[in-house]
Amino acid sequence: MNQLSASQAIEETCSIVIDGKAFAKRLRGEVAEEVASFVADTGHQPGLAVVLVGSDPASQVYVRTKMRQAEEVGIASFQHLLGSETTETQLLSLITLLNEDDSVDGILVQLPLPEHINESAVIEAIDPAKDVDGFHPINVGRLSAGEPGMVPCTPLGCLLLLQDRLGDLSGMKAVVVGRSNIVGKPIGQLLLNANCTVTTLHSRSRDMVAECRRADILVVAVGLPEMIGAEHIKPGATVLDVGINRIENAKGEKRLVGDVDFDAAASKAGGLTPVPGGIGPMTVACLMRNTLAAARQRSHTSVTGGGKTS
Ligand code: GUN
Repeated sequence: MNQLSASQAIEETCSIVIDGKAFAKRLRGEVAEEVASFVADTGHQPGLAVVLVGSDPASQVYVRTKMRQAEEVGIASFQHLLGSETTETQLLSLITLLNEDDSVDGILVQLPLPEHINESAVIEAIDPAKDVDGFHPINVGRLSAGEPGMVPCTPLGCLLLLQDRLGDLSGMKAVVVGRSNIVGKPIGQLLLNANCTVTTLHSRSRDMVAECRRADILVVAVGLPEMIGAEHIKPGATVLDVGINRIENAKGEKRLVGDVDFDAAASKAGGLTPVPGGIGPMTVACLMRNTLAAARQRSHTSVTGGGKTS
């Protein structure tokens, strides 16, 4: 009897967990097949340039993962590791070279940049057609106007997971906690474009718990370890945890946790992404998807001589 209820409990938890790692693996497999047929059709191998300035350990890990997964799906990867003393002018010169390099379809400058470099100036220097991060104001504008363009990788990963889990999102009440340019704002736009009713909460919002409890879809991206508990969640809601926080317990042991208290949330949510293994792998898989999309778009515009506006 005990045995049965334990296995039932496991089964129930499994059905709650949204396995971003497995979904990302499938997505990378699809991208790899599409890259192979793109190469066969065009003779051009898609290329991704990844630029890292400085030696932030977390950024180094992210960049290595991006380079490795690019190679695995058949995308050529070009790594540019620059010292922390690199000037803004030197970085802008590199971006000009990458913009002009036909073997490069996507350019990603890992953020954050050292304080002496103006992040906006760097993002704006990237050719919008190669902006696989979707951070250039042209792509931000296209997303907000509901026009096709490069969509930031983490929000795109969130949307794909939600659509896979829930199907059509029309009419659902979505609450986004966090208003960063990288996640909070673009995921809000994507959900709005998918016909959700969207509320964005932030550090000055009132009635946080009550607002969160109205959500059919709750996306949390604030960078505060386990700030969302069971009390924030409507029974059956789908919860995406974008946070990745390294915390240390009393014994000095380090572990990764999200912005959502997983065990507490699992008692209420209908679906929940774990950390690690939830949104993180989706971000990198969507970078591969965006690089292929950039290569396709660029090959199309160079063949047809398009890219003109009318
Ligand atoms: N730093 C943290 N997330 C990201 C991301 O999605 N893109 C870039 N370029 N830097 C990041």
